[in-house]
Amino acid sequence: MILRSRIVGCGSYLPERVVSNAEMARMVDTSDEWIVERTGIRSRHLAAEGQSTSDLATAAAQRALQAAGITGAEVDLLVLATATPDHTFPATATKVQSRIGMTGGAAFDIQAVCSGFIYALSIADNFIKAGQARTALVIGAETFSRILDWTDRGTCVLFGDGAGAMVLRAEAQPGTNQDRGILSTHLHSDGRHHDLLYVDGGPSTTQTVGHLRMEGKEVFRHAVSNLAQVVGEALEANGLKADDITWVVPHQANRRILDGTARKLGLPPERMVVTVDRHANTSAASVPLAFAEAVNDGRLKSGDLVLLEAMGGGFTWGAALVRL
Ligand code: ACO
Repeated sequence: MILRSRIVGCGSYLPERVVSNAEMARMVDTSDEWIVERTGIRSRHLAAEGQSTSDLATAAAQRALQAAGITGAEVDLLVLATATPDHTFPATATKVQSRIGMTGGAAFDIQAVCSGFIYALSIADNFIKAGQARTALVIGAETFSRILDWTDRGTCVLFGDGAGAMVLRAEAQPGTNQDRGILSTHLHSDGRHHDLLYVDGGPSTTQTVGHLRMEGKEVFRHAVSNLAQVVGEALEANGLKADDITWVVPHQANRRILDGTARKLGLPPERMVVTVDRHANTSAASVPLAFAEAVNDGRLKSGDLVLLEAMGGGFTWGAALVRL
């Protein structure tokens, strides 16, 4: 028998304010037609003034804890993925820790931009497999609206705010690819591509928060090939085929990236969970937001083989295979 991380609860939170493409077209020179055709995005949620990443993260975490039927006091590891923390330090995770009543264990942030949730999940899974944690809370939370250049139509239409969370529990399993829980996680980065997607500020360089900058076409090209590569790696590591996957819960960057990756893997688009039309790209929050939506509406069921994948700035990319 080996230790596996079972997903025993999930939850999400979206800020109340919904901004349509028509509203975006009043801010920058764009149109609903252009945004829908190039990205599949129709609307996004934006955080209210004064609402911070920790607020979104705490709301999602509380829902995940409730779904798991546990209290924050039972959590012994909290990993929060964000590129938009409340402060330079301390970690936003420690703020969430205190708000959910988690008094022991360890809480910290990790930063891998849009791949952040896969990175956080992988870290928590490895803590659990090593016996260093028994109950982990993994959160992806972002307020990307705060780092967008609202005069740059090439980027400001693409992103939204939100948070998603999962509770993982250690459980002994036989150690086969039929086990329940996280079967494997796979992480990659290639820092040579820094300049294709980055924020032009930071405490150690400009002493400002900065704005997101992106070479969209280049990011697109790398996204499809990197995602196809890491998905292939995850399947091979478990002796499974694309056909065995019940659902893919991909990072929600762009409808065309989702379709391109599905085609490359030979996966039917109807097995993809898609939220990008209503959430836009919420970076580290997108995978757990989409996951929680598909659990709550009954699409994801016990026993399903689910593939999570993401790619983001750095570049970073990764995948996780999970049997629910
Ligand atoms: N509205 C109208 N026109 C626009 C807009 C807009 N919002 N944004 C750009 N344009 C114009 C450009 O100015 C350009 O005009 P020009 O030909 O007169 O110069 C034209 O549209 C084409 O611009 P491109 O940037 O070449 O458009 P492209 O087809 O590449 O689409 C997009 C842009 C949607 C950003 C695409 O490159 C993309 O999706 N890239 C992936 C980026 C991504 O998803 N990043 C998220 C973070 S990374 C991740 O999560 C994977």
